[in-house]
Amino acid sequence: MDYQLRKAEPRDVPDILRLVKELAKYEEMEHQVTLTEKDLLEDGFGDTPFYHCIITEVQGGESSDDPKVAGFAMYYFTYDPWVGKQLYLEEFYVMDQYRGLGIGSGILRHLSNLAMKTRCTGMMFVVAENNEPSVQFYKRRGAEDLSQEEGWRLFRFDKESLVKMAAPAEE
Ligand code: ACO
Repeated sequence: MDYQLRKAEPRDVPDILRLVKELAKYEEMEHQVTLTEKDLLEDGFGDTPFYHCIITEVQGGESSDDPKVAGFAMYYFTYDPWVGKQLYLEEFYVMDQYRGLGIGSGILRHLSNLAMKTRCTGMMFVVAENNEPSVQFYKRRGAEDLSQEEGWRLFRFDKESLVKMAAPAEE
């Protein structure tokens, strides 16, 4: 399968949001996506990008020979105070009809090279427990399941909790 990998540009924002929604639908959580193209544009392409994206293009949609965005990975860098820089893989998705052709492995190869160039000591990510095909996909490539092996639990403060904590303490 002929495909190209490239860094996302501002013009890719509609395709990024389309793929974010497709992945959320695959995970049966589509209703939780509230992000807009404007958010993605401001957050990924301003002076301080909060995320980076790699895009996969294949040749020709059904009705044209133009390149078509068929998959993507969204990532950023985090820091582990025990071992240093980490590449955090936030989103990883290839459209159904292009899966199993090596595109996902190509994206991981690209990100692994980037992690080595930037001297990261690991790549972190979260997978939904019921997404067994992807759990196996990652395990076949050597990923460790830290929830199982180290007992880590994933937490979040939602906005309501943040507002409460941010409020000034009562006298
Ligand atoms: N669909 C999926 N996998 C297939 C298919 C198929 N139709 N046919 C064969 N496979 C096998 C391949 O043989 C290959 O096996 P291997 O692991 O032994 O190499 C593997 O599944 C797929 O490898 P690639 O072709 O390199 O990867 P692909 O382009 O299919 O992308 C990905 C992998 C991104 C996981 C894709 O399957 C996908 O989008 N899945 C649904 C969304 C998803 O679960 N994303 C990850 C969420 S976790 C996160 O975002 C951090």
